[in-house]
Amino acid sequence: MASKSDDMSTAKKEVKRITVHTLHGMKAQGEKISMLTAYDFSMAKIFDAAGIDVLLVGDSASNVMAGHETTLPITLDQMIYHAQSVIRAVKRALVVVDLPFGSYQGNSTKALNSAVKIMKESGAHAVKLEGGSEIQESIIRILSAGVPVMGHLGLTPQSIYKFGTYTVRAKEEEEAKKLKEDALLLEELGCFGIVLEKIPAKLAAEVSESLKIPTIGIGAGNKADGQVLVSHDLLGITKDFHPRFLRRYMELFDEIKGAVEHYIKDVKSMDFPGPKEQY
Ligand code: KIV
Repeated sequence: MASKSDDMSTAKKEVKRITVHTLHGMKAQGEKISMLTAYDFSMAKIFDAAGIDVLLVGDSASNVMAGHETTLPITLDQMIYHAQSVIRAVKRALVVVDLPFGSYQGNSTKALNSAVKIMKESGAHAVKLEGGSEIQESIIRILSAGVPVMGHLGLTPQSIYKFGTYTVRAKEEEEAKKLKEDALLLEELGCFGIVLEKIPAKLAAEVSESLKIPTIGIGAGNKADGQVLVSHDLLGITKDFHPRFLRRYMELFDEIKGAVEHYIKDVKSMDFPGPKEQY
């Protein structure tokens, strides 16, 4: 007869999903939030198994997956395709999807429709939008439909042609003041978190301290409530990109190149397939 402990050991271990409420709890407890970008099933499966808290289907897919120079060209349907692939892989992480350029700015009805389309067609858990007061109508409409919204302040790559460079933002008092006001506004509107990209560490610390919702930094120092990196940068798949904030944990470009060179050599020399690798 099976004992109670047998039942326990055979029972499937339930995975506790991360929600926006989990993230609030983590901030309250002083536990840092880990976030990474993901765009496809296989990588998302690895990141989720590793225990990442949040996966961002970032519009940086436009750069690292599609090879565009900026994030502007990626479409809503392309973002949904990436989000669907990530969602299929994930058991634990909260999945946030970027609303792409042109899908929410200046038209709150369009913003609502874009967010609803992402949620309906991908099964994602939340959306992220770049900007502060100038997009508040869009944020209000999306939140009113029950869709969790993450903000994004500081360097906002969808506005690259307005700024002209990818340098550190809000170094001057006026821009820093606007950023602080925007952060408070996003919290007041009901955003569940805010990405702070490439701003002085002191400003990020001040903003994080002033909010109840978590901030997630990228190039914003270690006082933000969490950190995010583009996974291709962390893994060294992208080359010749060395911003000060980036820590590379692997040099996959070189490792993969080496493996493929080895494979090519084996094919040419007829070493592959060997006698045990055929039927
Ligand atoms: O699209 C993206 O990868 C992002 C991160 C840099 C935060 O928005």
